[in-house]
Amino acid sequence: MGPIPLCILLPVTVLTVVVAGAAEENTIDDKYTWPQWKVPLVKKRRTVPLSSPNFSAHPQLELNGTCGIECQRRLPTPSLNDLEQFLSYETVYENGTRTYTSVSVQGLNEMTFWSRNTSSRHKREVYGTDTRFTIADKQYSTKYPFSTSVKISTGCSGVLVSPKHVLTAAHCIHDGKEYLDGARKLRVGILKEKSRRGRGRGGRAKGKRRKGDKGKEETLEKGEKGERKGRGKGKKSRSRRSVDSGKPSFKWTRVKQTQIPKGWFKGVSKGLTADFDYAVLELKRAPKVNYMDLGVIPSIKKLPAGRIHFSGFDDDRPGNLVYRFCSVYEESNDLLYQHCDAKPGSSGSGVYIRLKEPGQKKWKRKIIGVFSGHQWVDVNGDGRQQDYNVAVRITPLKYAQICYWVHGDSSECQVA
Ligand SMILES: *[C@@H]1O[C@H](CO)[C@@H](O)[C@H](O)[C@H]1NC(C)=O
Ligand SMILES: *[C@@H]1O[C@H](CO)[C@@H](O)[C@H](O)[C@H]1NC(C)=O
Ligand SMILES: *[C@@H]1O[C@H](CO)[C@@H](O)[C@H](O)[C@H]1NC(C)=O
Ligand SMILES: *[C@@H]1O[C@H](CO)[C@@H](O)[C@H](O)[C@H]1NC(C)=O
Repeated sequence: MGPIPLCILLPVTVLTVVVAGAAEENTIDDKYTWPQWKVPLVKKRRTVPLSSPNFSAHPQLELNGTCGIECQRRLPTPSLNDLEQFLSYETVYENGTRTYTSVSVQGLNEMTFWSRNTSSRHKREVYGTDTRFTIADKQYSTKYPFSTSVKISTGCSGVLVSPKHVLTAAHCIHDGKEYLDGARKLRVGILKEKSRRGRGRGGRAKGKRRKGDKGKEETLEKGEKGERKGRGKGKKSRSRRSVDSGKPSFKWTRVKQTQIPKGWFKGVSKGLTADFDYAVLELKRAPKVNYMDLGVIPSIKKLPAGRIHFSGFDDDRPGNLVYRFCSVYEESNDLLYQHCDAKPGSSGSGVYIRLKEPGQKKWKRKIIGVFSGHQWVDVNGDGRQQDYNVAVRITPLKYAQICYWVHGDSSECQVA
């Protein structure tokens, strides 16, 4: 359970072992290949202006009352109409205006639905599930795939899924009723190799844990000031840099707009809100680091070694990127249940796996989920709660929506 200090080689060793293990098991050629999906079309119907949003909610560390697998079996299958409502969405612009966009869904087929009466329960297996690795060495933390992980100024994590779009959890900016106070001036932090003086960093690295919004703003400001200072004293800082082997620090970028599916809003999708715990942030400027492609999640039987991976900025290791992998315990149509070790702060991280590109030998990582966080899950629908770490699965339908948000054109999102 305790933090395991990471020597430089460890993450690479782990990744190699995971992949090598997968390759060994790969007797049937297409077992670990990205499935090709025909994705439904999510299209904009109408956009209407709304009054400016209230920013007054507080971050939720844990979600309570998630409807688990047995619980979900008792719910009626959502109709096309329901789905269109859940996938309709709100946009908040940087200038404080807000719009509501209703969508239509076309080309939905049964493949899109996970069969509610098929049990996919797996025996819980422990694969060193309690281990998190701090990616402290900048050789790794600022390089792909780790460089795709970003910090959200409200205290969560996210992942770059295009040059300027970040996928995160909806609860990182909205509590189901209102936008978080801290979402008013949303920023996204990208880990960059230091480009400023070591002294400035000292202050920031000791930054407080981000509980309240005040602390957040403070830490942010410090970071930005440091940056400006660094820029002003170009030459001097360069000579300092060679002396300072310090770790990378956040470069903060403003957010141009945010999009959240209506399904996340309390009262819209009763019992299913956790299924829609995802949001997309568009950055004002592209941060010039690699992003990770979005994919559609295959069945957990196709996950190499049954495992998922994600990296985020857990609260208990401020300023550090933390990587972990674990096996999935159960899945529903929209959620993955697992016991990956994770602390608040890692919510919103992009969950990824690595499979082969069809017809190629090459392995490719894709984001197939959003880590939602620790939740109290009503497993059996009887009100009794069990704790799990939950991730939202990127189903064909969600792929269609997120891809549409990213590209602004659903015709680019027909095949995953
Ligand atoms: C904002 O708060 C006011 C007063 O509490 C309420 O009347 C209004 O409906 C809220 N607006 C939104 C968009 O939630
Ligand atoms: C979840 O919420 C219900 C009702 O609000 C409460 O009774 C219960 O104690 C909460 N459970 C946890 C684990 O917080
Ligand atoms: C706010 O920004 C949006 C998107 O850029 C724009 O469509 C809208 O007209 C702006 N509203 C105001 C009041 O400036
Ligand atoms: C699931 O249940 C429905 C109706 O109860 C039935 O028609 C269908 O065949 C079942 N599917 C599976 C995979 O068992």
